[in-house]
Amino acid sequence: MQIAMIGTGYVGLVSGACFSEFGVNVTCVDNDESKIQRLLRGEMPIYEPGLDGLVASNVKAERLRFTTDLKSAVREANAVFIAVGTPSRRGDGHADLTYVYAAAREIAEALNGYTVVVTKSTVPVGTGDEIEKIIREVRPDADFDVVSNPEFLREGSAINDFMRPDRVVIGTESERAQEIMRQLYRVLYLIETPILFTSRTTSELTKYAANAFLAVKITFINEVADLCDRIGADVHDVARGIGLDGRIGRKFLHAGPGYGGSCFPKDTLAMVRTAQTAGSPMRIVETVIDINNRRKADMAERIIAACGGSVEGKTIAVLGLTFKPNTDDMRDSPSLDIVPALQKAGAVVKAFDPEGMNEAKQMLTGVSWCDTAYETMDGADAVAILTEWNEFRALNLNRVKELLKRPVMIDLRNIYKPQEMAAAGFHYTSIGRPSYEPKLEEAMV
Ligand code: UDX
Repeated sequence: MQIAMIGTGYVGLVSGACFSEFGVNVTCVDNDESKIQRLLRGEMPIYEPGLDGLVASNVKAERLRFTTDLKSAVREANAVFIAVGTPSRRGDGHADLTYVYAAAREIAEALNGYTVVVTKSTVPVGTGDEIEKIIREVRPDADFDVVSNPEFLREGSAINDFMRPDRVVIGTESERAQEIMRQLYRVLYLIETPILFTSRTTSELTKYAANAFLAVKITFINEVADLCDRIGADVHDVARGIGLDGRIGRKFLHAGPGYGGSCFPKDTLAMVRTAQTAGSPMRIVETVIDINNRRKADMAERIIAACGGSVEGKTIAVLGLTFKPNTDDMRDSPSLDIVPALQKAGAVVKAFDPEGMNEAKQMLTGVSWCDTAYETMDGADAVAILTEWNEFRALNLNRVKELLKRPVMIDLRNIYKPQEMAAAGFHYTSIGRPSYEPKLEEAMV
């Protein structure tokens, strides 16, 4: 089996490397010459644990190649995957399909023999039909099928998600296309992964419905957390109490500063637009988007409140900037709302992130950048944890107390226990969990 993967962004690169690990011959294509040159030198354009090793071993085994030459990659392929970006269109929230349609046109020109054209990028319902139309127009003679095969990869654990998925969804009614897709995913059949064959439209919708549902789940627990704060209940226990019900499930019930990243914000918006256009509005998703946007902005207020109601002239140490750990991705990260709001309120912000600093420096201004967590906290009036990186989970609390001017910690990811933090002498604020007063002698420090 030979495939071409168009686009070496997050989805394309991970999917291409993983397919080659499955034994498929993969050519990854990108029109960014410098990116391809870097990949040929073994440099990864993104941070994803395990990706560099996977790419290196498959390049060595000659199953994985990189090129800017789309035409020759497509000519040799049994299947061509479209994995280019689909950003939110400025202004209206619709997914921007410019890159997808441009890829479809170029692919059409090079089609050679029966080929399956697969959309891996998250695309609105009906995009598969449009791609089919474009290819047909450009090459009326071509023998092809257009298939939807959405990705469900989480950044930071994308390789595992690809290799051991909960399910694979394949949208096509063509038996020839189904057979090729079956062969590509043969390794997953062997480990009994559920593979769902359905119509193209259903598959496209399934991807949006999955992400929207998860966004609803996170937003639900975030609102429960706010209620917990008001009535003195513990959201951690509520999440466990409801999550053990198999109908609800324990995952995606961690209260926090609001969801971010490259998918949930964009996909929820696109789903809302699709639903509105179809005359069947998704009011629950509309509300979730609104709540989540407000939440990110409100988080700065929490930090300010924990600092006694004002941060004017105070220094706040911010630990973690990416939208979640194990990624360098800053897209729609809550830190992009929180840091400027703190600065606007008069705070000096010092910040550190284990992987996201390069990205963050391009998106945030006026921040004093630090090289370690401890350097960030040195001389600060309070520390706020925005991302739950492992290295922030086991800070030396005595050292933290020595470095901070006052032992104030705002933990927006609930990685510490309120009672233990109080015992350690911290004024500790988290999300949806009762706080305890620090021990008297410590509080006097
Ligand atoms: C998501 C989907 O999980 C994946 O299936 C899809 O293909 C792409 O979008 P990703 O954006 O990488 O993946 O991150 P994910 O781990 O899902 O987290 C998204 C956001 O939700 C993060 O900001 C995270 O901090 C937040 N989140 C997640 C919570 O606040 N609470 C949770 O319980 C889970």
